[in-house]
Amino acid sequence: MTRRSWAEPWRIKMVEPLPITTREQREKAIVAAGYNTFLLQSDDVYIDLLTDSGTSAMSDHQWAGLMEGDEAYAGSRSFRHLCEAVADVYGYPETIPTHQGRGAEHILSQVLITPGDVIPGNMYFTTTRFHQEHAGGRFVDVIVDEAHDTEALHPFKGNVDLAKLQAVIDEVGAERIPYVSVETNVNMAGGQPMSLANLEATYDLCRRHGILVMLDATRALENAWFIKQREAGYEDWSVADLVRRICSFSDGATVSSKKDNLVNIGGFLAVRDPEIAREARSLLVAFEGLHTYGGMSGRDMEALARGIREMVDGDDHVRARVGQVEYLGDLIHKAGVPIIRPVGGHGVFIDAAKVLAHLPRDEFPAQALTAAVYVDSGVRGMERGIVSAGRDPVTGDHHRPRLELVRLAIPRRVYTQSHMDVVAESIGAVYETREQIRGLRFTYEPDHLRFFQARFEPIA
Ligand code: F0G
Repeated sequence: MTRRSWAEPWRIKMVEPLPITTREQREKAIVAAGYNTFLLQSDDVYIDLLTDSGTSAMSDHQWAGLMEGDEAYAGSRSFRHLCEAVADVYGYPETIPTHQGRGAEHILSQVLITPGDVIPGNMYFTTTRFHQEHAGGRFVDVIVDEAHDTEALHPFKGNVDLAKLQAVIDEVGAERIPYVSVETNVNMAGGQPMSLANLEATYDLCRRHGILVMLDATRALENAWFIKQREAGYEDWSVADLVRRICSFSDGATVSSKKDNLVNIGGFLAVRDPEIAREARSLLVAFEGLHTYGGMSGRDMEALARGIREMVDGDDHVRARVGQVEYLGDLIHKAGVPIIRPVGGHGVFIDAAKVLAHLPRDEFPAQALTAAVYVDSGVRGMERGIVSAGRDPVTGDHHRPRLELVRLAIPRRVYTQSHMDVVAESIGAVYETREQIRGLRFTYEPDHLRFFQARFEPIA
């Protein structure tokens, strides 16, 4: 059958009622939450686009897996199913299960990083960089310049800039670089993919210098879809084959299974080298759990094993997933609101620095815009700008990323096209009254990953 639209390859079997609130209720709720959407009660949220992490709807087959999960402390059958799924779909022989992505990042960083090391990567992610720094390493951004430009219509804004990577190697020496941290479909750049050609070239460069390539393969599926759409020679490949091909240019990967893998909790570190796997497992038992569950229950692992296979069971799932994100992005773009383009794989990213051009960056425009959207409609997004970037551990000043964004992340298989229409209408309405939005200042600033728990008040 010829597909004429991105329409979903599933129908709805069970529904969950959503709370509809009044503007007055939402005004109270945002004050109580210190203008931080992470601190809202979900009972006060209508359409929750805070994150695409752990918010997917599972299939009937996955729910059935919950009943069949093997809760044995050691040697669980569900763990074996997980290892087989990771080996078949991603191609890594060694799977180290963790409670979620940051658990895998923690273990990987502790195994590979020695204090003073440098870890180049294609843009930072909050928890990934935290664990690299926590292990005594220093992250250096080597993503292409186009990634920082919301309007550059580059098809692969997630690419590694090979000249920047070479310059870091020349400057600090390959022996100070345990691995290059390469993220598929770069979250902080707006869900932007890298090309297979770029990944292969990165892998070749690293191999020549004896440096490992460790993927953050959390959104490798969405990256695979963009390769199929945009990279010459891969039009006829299945996303299953493309995911395998992506991983073939790496020595291992950390994965937060709460995204592509269609489960509500879970993750893993997967590697080729049995020695790295051995060291990781010996830390795992201290920090996560036994090496055959690593923080997940047997039923979690069963649902995860099924989710991994389901995501690449044909291309229609990812077509609909990315298609829905593009649908929302196109509506918001047509309303004249500046967003990151091309629209990314997991959400729409509004350029808050442009929308609230009257606010200085130190008054947190993206945080303020996120709060204003919530008050307008009960749609919950997330700040991805100066607040998320945190402070430089050496100078103590804010990191100042060029991107100052409101992220509207779309959960997988959860909301309908009419929900997307409501979101776009609200963004358009807030945009019309943008000049009334005031800046914010901290009333509480946490020491680590401050965006999760920070509190703010409006500047009079
Ligand atoms: N890597 C990437 C690219 C991520 O997006 C995330 C989480 C992680 C690692 C950490 O995984 O949450 O399972 O510990 N991103 C979520 C988000 C929190 O909303 O973007 P985790």
